[in-house]
Amino acid sequence: MEVLKIDGGKRLAGTVKVDGAKNAALPILAATTIVGGIHRISNVPELRDISTMMQILESLGCKTKREGDVVTVDSTDITSTQIPAELMMKMRSSIFLMGPLLARFGEVETFQPGGCAIGERKMDIHFSGLEDLGVQFVQSGDSIKGKSSRLIGTAIKLRFPSVGATENLMMAAATAEGMTTIENAAREPEIVDLQDFLNALGARISGAGTSTISVTGVNSLGAAEHRVIPDRIVAGTILCATVACGGSVDVLEARIDHIESLVKSLREMGAEIEAHANGIRVSMNQRPKAIGEIKTGPYPDFPTDLQSQVMVILSIASGDSSIKETIFESRYQHVEQLRLMGAEIAIEGEVAKIHGIDGLTGTKVASTDLRAGAALVIAGMVARGETTVENLNHIDRGYHRIEELFNELGASIRRES
Ligand code: EPZ
Repeated sequence: MEVLKIDGGKRLAGTVKVDGAKNAALPILAATTIVGGIHRISNVPELRDISTMMQILESLGCKTKREGDVVTVDSTDITSTQIPAELMMKMRSSIFLMGPLLARFGEVETFQPGGCAIGERKMDIHFSGLEDLGVQFVQSGDSIKGKSSRLIGTAIKLRFPSVGATENLMMAAATAEGMTTIENAAREPEIVDLQDFLNALGARISGAGTSTISVTGVNSLGAAEHRVIPDRIVAGTILCATVACGGSVDVLEARIDHIESLVKSLREMGAEIEAHANGIRVSMNQRPKAIGEIKTGPYPDFPTDLQSQVMVILSIASGDSSIKETIFESRYQHVEQLRLMGAEIAIEGEVAKIHGIDGLTGTKVASTDLRAGAALVIAGMVARGETTVENLNHIDRGYHRIEELFNELGASIRRES
């Protein structure tokens, strides 16, 4: 098993470039199955989740290849509409294949994805929206089969602005008969990126980024090229690491308009953050100040995917702070691990109350999910002494060689088997 060994206490300095967004690339790669042809997607990050998506596309009959940050998908000959169960378990994002396969073939077989450390991860919003469009689902055991002779556009209202459900419904509605509106849609930048790709294929979608998305069904689509937006969560993770460790870092290609809520909170903690033509510069030359309550919520509110990273900063801030996690029902797995490093955090229902202490102490910790793992790496970089982080498989799903990223900025991290 691989672990990261981190010698803490180093300030960060230098320049890094942020890669393309995992959470934009995954639905866009799935969307290539909506019409046969050769699609070229650029700025695709080299991550485990992306490799898994490419495996799934291959299992459906697509041909995929990667050359640097360009992934080419030939979706001409799709031979199956069954998403392999073992791959569905491995990565929930396989769910994004329901929309395009239903749009192109009128059928799909999927499996209940495994829950994960952060929550149950239900799919009811996906299924009810697809049923509104005319899909019939039949469940037998873990298998869920969806069929539709003709998708018919309609007005859909989401009970919660689910990111994945919004994306699946945009894809399913792209070739449905007539108009579809999606009310209470999620507003994330990754949804705007998917809209741009689908429109490049010939779809007619508008409103992504707002709570109401309109889709006019079209009869034919064609292959397209697309460059994926930068990863706002990786960019935010780098900003949090710099504010926690102190120093001055330039994050190239990061877009400040994608992480305004994080930037506001980090400025309140005392960070200087400025956008420039090609990225974001962050500087921190003082102990972070505690701030009131940070509450996660659907975009543009504070992103749940940066909650664990910002908790590390607050655990060494001067004073008391609190975080309220409203998106996932159990996204505090990292708290126990931070306590092992000396953090003083109490969980009361959805709220984590954090009493800032002078410093964390290095020890052995284990990551439980993707973003908690990144938070523990930041904690190790801040702590006195050496920290060992286990379960790197979680971290490698969303960060390409995280140790190289931070070592470039002056950290001291070794990956050991
Ligand atoms: C996307 O997951 C992201 N993943 C997640 O990032 C992110 O945390 C999440 O959006 C919220 O922003 C990708 O884009 C690949 P949701 P998704 O559907 O689409 C409940 C990361 O770290 N829900 O908006 O699965 C669900 O249980 C990952 O990169 C239902 O109840 O998120 C959760 O509590 C982690 N029924 C909440 O809604 C449904 O049908 C948000 O889920 C769907 C969701």
